[in-house]
Amino acid sequence: MFHLYFVIMTSKNTNITVPKVASFTSISNENTIVITDENVFKLHLKKFKNFTTIVIKAGEEHKNQTTVNSIIKKLIKLSANRATTLIGVGGGVITDITGYVASIYMRGIDFGFVPTTLLALVDASIGGKNGVDVGIYKNMIGTINQPKFILHDLSFLNTLPKTEWQNGFAEIIKHACIKDALMFNELQSHSLKYYLSRKKELSLLIQKNANIKTSIVTNDLFEKGERKLLNFGHTLGHAIENQYKLSHGEAISIGMVFACKLSQQILGFNDTESVANLLNKYGLPTSLNFKKNKAFNVLIKDKKREEGFINYILLESIGSAKIVEIELQKIKLLL
Ligand SMILES: NC(=O)c1ccc[n+]([C@@H]2O[C@H](COP(=O)([O-])OP(=O)(O)OC[C@H]3O[C@@H](n4cnc5c(N)ncnc54)[C@H](O)[C@@H]3O)[C@@H](O)[C@H]2O)c1
Repeated sequence: MFHLYFVIMTSKNTNITVPKVASFTSISNENTIVITDENVFKLHLKKFKNFTTIVIKAGEEHKNQTTVNSIIKKLIKLSANRATTLIGVGGGVITDITGYVASIYMRGIDFGFVPTTLLALVDASIGGKNGVDVGIYKNMIGTINQPKFILHDLSFLNTLPKTEWQNGFAEIIKHACIKDALMFNELQSHSLKYYLSRKKELSLLIQKNANIKTSIVTNDLFEKGERKLLNFGHTLGHAIENQYKLSHGEAISIGMVFACKLSQQILGFNDTESVANLLNKYGLPTSLNFKKNKAFNVLIKDKKREEGFINYILLESIGSAKIVEIELQKIKLLL
């Protein structure tokens, strides 16, 4: 059983009290409204009993403007005002939606996150990118706005299904590929089973990955430089995620292997097999028989596209990534 609490405060200036070491239930509930999804709510019912909670349907297909509008109507009904703090308790879908709603409701109110999936703990809750999808186009609308706090209450992980652990490892492997060759080796010598049976090692791995993402985004809040490296695997990943109803972890896993192959052709990277083997080891897919034209047509709408080319994240070696401009027509050929 996990009982580890860890708070990342991004600002001391919050409307509510967040003790430095705290469980979700010890956050003050005055002037707070919690947003969660039906799975997290049902599985952790007791934890929500003292909070005013808006419960939305679970899943990426609900990360859209319709859900945002329905939440806003509920906030109005609950008389939420500028002193209200929204708390997103859930996976990346919940943190993305909560941050977006809070950023636009009454032109912006405070918000904080209690990430409850591995993926949200190590990635989605950090960095202030909030938003929703428009059909198959991922994260097409949104804001960059920082939460006031991120609370790691790892007791939520006690109910996380195996597939969601695997999805979280996709982002951890991404961090290792772009920034940390030692962590890549560590992951190679362990396994999902190893981390699930060793809570201390797992919580250290979570903190290490939260720190990797935090330090990258702190230096580049608006993605002008180094932050772009975090998109490794995401260009193709986002193009196939909603079209093929893949989880985010599965989609970027396939995207990372494609980016490795591009790296091989363009930069002479020679560790594609090690990356693919590591992803497989953690239960992630490395290929998909997708329709190239359909994927390309979504890919060219990517936010990283500029006139005639796209900024693709490639690997020079494990632990060292680079932004490379690739012509769109070349990507089409390579697909
Ligand atoms: N903003 C960012 O920087 C950023 C970064 C990476 C990913 N994302 C986004 O995050 C999303 C993916 O996040 P995710 O994988 O956490 O998806 P998710 O929020 O859909 O959660 C996955 C599933 O796990 C369930 N769940 C959540 N916590 C649980 C728990 N403790 N116990 C049992 N079940 C639980 C959810 O109900 C859901 O069914 C995508 O939309 C992706 O675009 C955003």
